[in-house]
Amino acid sequence: MRLGVNIDHVATVRNARGSNWPDPLRAAILAEAAGADGITAHLREDRRHIRDEDIEALMAGIGLPLNFEMAATAEMQTIALRHKPHAVCLVPEKREERTTEGGLDVASDEARLADFIAPLREAGSRVSMFIGHDPAQIEASHRIGAAVVELHTGHYCELIADRRTAEAEAELAALRQGAAFAHSLGLEVHAGHGISYDTVAEIAAFPQVMELNIGHFLIAESIFRGLGPAIEEMRRRMDAARA
Ligand code: PXP
Repeated sequence: MRLGVNIDHVATVRNARGSNWPDPLRAAILAEAAGADGITAHLREDRRHIRDEDIEALMAGIGLPLNFEMAATAEMQTIALRHKPHAVCLVPEKREERTTEGGLDVASDEARLADFIAPLREAGSRVSMFIGHDPAQIEASHRIGAAVVELHTGHYCELIADRRTAEAEAELAALRQGAAFAHSLGLEVHAGHGISYDTVAEIAAFPQVMELNIGHFLIAESIFRGLGPAIEEMRRRMDAARA
């Protein structure tokens, strides 16, 4: 199981003061040394964290595969086709949200998304859909030719944080079923959003999950223990859960 480290919020801190630090590329290089298998970055339409020049620096400066998260817009498609990252993860995006709040509605936008991902696939990027565990969304992702689905774990993680244990168990069971269903269709299964030390073990224990993408918690934890040790501890918990 791979660990993708999302470095968006290194850029959030940098942008807060309009300075050049902390540098997301330096974070990516440190993440690699600490055992990350990939770097994830979300270029949002409003550029609130990662900016175009960060994507350029990451493509040129890291040895790890880049998972480029983006909305399904013409602007982002042009950028992805220019850089040809290892992976492109399509996410829903609303300007007013603080973070990516729900999964992509692939089922209602199937024809457009099939056309949208075709050139990305031809350019060699592995295309992933960031979706909820609804079987209709998983089937639609399969039909349009996505290689990967990333299951949105944010709701589960919020329920755990709020100590709504019974609801959290039900959400975890639905995610588990979603992972098994997606795998049965031949999709590679990833998971991400909101994962912390408190929630990683349950999600990493799904045998079909090949990759976790984790950002905000790791950057927050790095304030206290440093980025390398924060990532190493996450890696240790993932591996222990899978073992
Ligand atoms: N995966 C996807 C598709 C995301 O959009 C995000 C947030 O940008 C993450 C994973 C990481 O979420 P978090 O920062 O909450 O760990």
